[in-house]
Amino acid sequence: MAINIRGRNFLTLLDFSPAEIRYLLDLSKNFKDLKRAGTPHRYLEGKNIVLLFEKTSTRTRCSFEVAGMDLGLGVTYLDPGSSQMGKKESIADTAHVLGQIYDGIEYRGFSQKVVETLAENAGIPVWNGLTDEVHPTQMLADLLTMEEKKGRLKGLHFTYFGDARNNMGNSLMIACAKMGIHFTACAPRELFPAPALVETCKKIAAENGGTIRLTEDITEGASGADVLYTDIWVSMGEPDSVWSERIRLLKPYQVNAKVMALAKSDAIFMHCLPSFHDTNTTIGKEIADKFGITEMEVSDEVFSGPQSVVFEEAGNRMHTIKAVIYATLH
Ligand code: CP
Ligand code: NVA
Repeated sequence: MAINIRGRNFLTLLDFSPAEIRYLLDLSKNFKDLKRAGTPHRYLEGKNIVLLFEKTSTRTRCSFEVAGMDLGLGVTYLDPGSSQMGKKESIADTAHVLGQIYDGIEYRGFSQKVVETLAENAGIPVWNGLTDEVHPTQMLADLLTMEEKKGRLKGLHFTYFGDARNNMGNSLMIACAKMGIHFTACAPRELFPAPALVETCKKIAAENGGTIRLTEDITEGASGADVLYTDIWVSMGEPDSVWSERIRLLKPYQVNAKVMALAKSDAIFMHCLPSFHDTNTTIGKEIADKFGITEMEVSDEVFSGPQSVVFEEAGNRMHTIKAVIYATLH
């Protein structure tokens, strides 16, 4: 049956079937080819989208803007301080207003409830550009990158190190379950994903030939993996006061050369970015001064090494976001 997701919201991969995700990945590949060939693809000329960011961003914002412009769309960016949303106007009222003016809304912020409320009231597609709970557009870029590098998705062994209950841990578990990838979260027990989501993902994984495993053991987690993935230890919106506890919990889970050596010899290293792999950032420097660590979730050696695909992964954000915009708006 032909896949059609016109008019749909893109709030979490839980709402999409493996066939629909497959369709978005294939569409992303087509758009990547068009971009590389320099072939114009202004298929959505005359439409307009608005990007609402309540948290900072480099990749997601730039990807939505460039993808939108490549498709011929008009694009408005609203930064965390420059709209009435939430302060003088409710989320629902904002959605009604934007729905009168635009053809699609991207939202990055805190609670998933906000993006759901926008979607319930806007009458136009709403795309989740990251919430505290999930980061679904990142998932498409990650799946595309894995497929490009490994030649397949089904049956791959994927291990996520770090805060496994944050937006990345949750989304990666969902994405792997949908695509039949064997998913392992390697983390201290305190940072395991919520049991209800684990149960949901176990059911989805079973339908698609995948498995879900949680372990505190680094050797067990890394051994035989095709993909090692990590994320920053403290996410946007979390208070600075959690750093010390998070460092204590996650320091043993750093992806370094020793951990990479446990994985398959042709394993790849992935990270959604931004990353604290050196002290060339304000926060990286502050943490080094305060806690005496110069590399956090990944060693600089692994981040910059031959197995790392992080920058191609970041580049794939644009092609995959373009696919989501096109598929829901054309
Ligand atoms: N990976 C990601 O979402 O990056 P930004 O925060 O820069 O958008
Ligand atoms: N977990 C990170 C992901 C950034 C893309 C955060 O929410 O800050």
